[in-house]
Amino acid sequence: MPKRLAVLASGTGSLLQAMIEQDLPIELVITDRSCRAFDIAGEAGLGRSNLKRSFSVDFDREAYTQWVLRELRDSEIDLVAMAGYMTVFTPAMFADEAFKMRVFNTHPSLLPSFKGDHAVRDALEYGVKVTGCTIHWATEELDAGPILTQEAVKVLPGDTVESLHERIKVAERWLYPGILRELIR
Ligand code: GRF
Repeated sequence: MPKRLAVLASGTGSLLQAMIEQDLPIELVITDRSCRAFDIAGEAGLGRSNLKRSFSVDFDREAYTQWVLRELRDSEIDLVAMAGYMTVFTPAMFADEAFKMRVFNTHPSLLPSFKGDHAVRDALEYGVKVTGCTIHWATEELDAGPILTQEAVKVLPGDTVESLHERIKVAERWLYPGILRELIR
């Protein structure tokens, strides 16, 4: 039976678009806010849920994590690919029997360097000459799960955060769907 993939996204959804174009068996797209990724899922006729998170100080992260888990279970999802998803889950996500070691993430740096939300900016400010992207298992510790694969991207003279991030995303758009395909097999 083919594996059923869920993609979690919060942004422009260009990685989601690449996964769609590469015919991955996406059953469900979950977003946490109104974003282009949600529209892309709709245009492709995929199942989609916009599980809007709140940005207030009393945001209930545990309840939110349980909400996402429920959606994944209801759609009988086997594998979860986070692709620019900006909400951090509680450990419940990674301890769940159904999804243990079945949640993946891509990060725009060569981990373990430059963890966190500003990986591209931090790499540029540090002055590294090579950065890249890392596909890894997602675990409760952010950007720290076992590494599946990486691709190096050169920093060019005159690069801005935007130009460098776009070149990193070019790499992510083939690397991430490719490794997901292998995992699905
Ligand atoms: C990617 O660079 C990913 O590594 C980061 O967010 C970006 C998502 O891009 N966490 P997009 O929204 O798919 O264009």
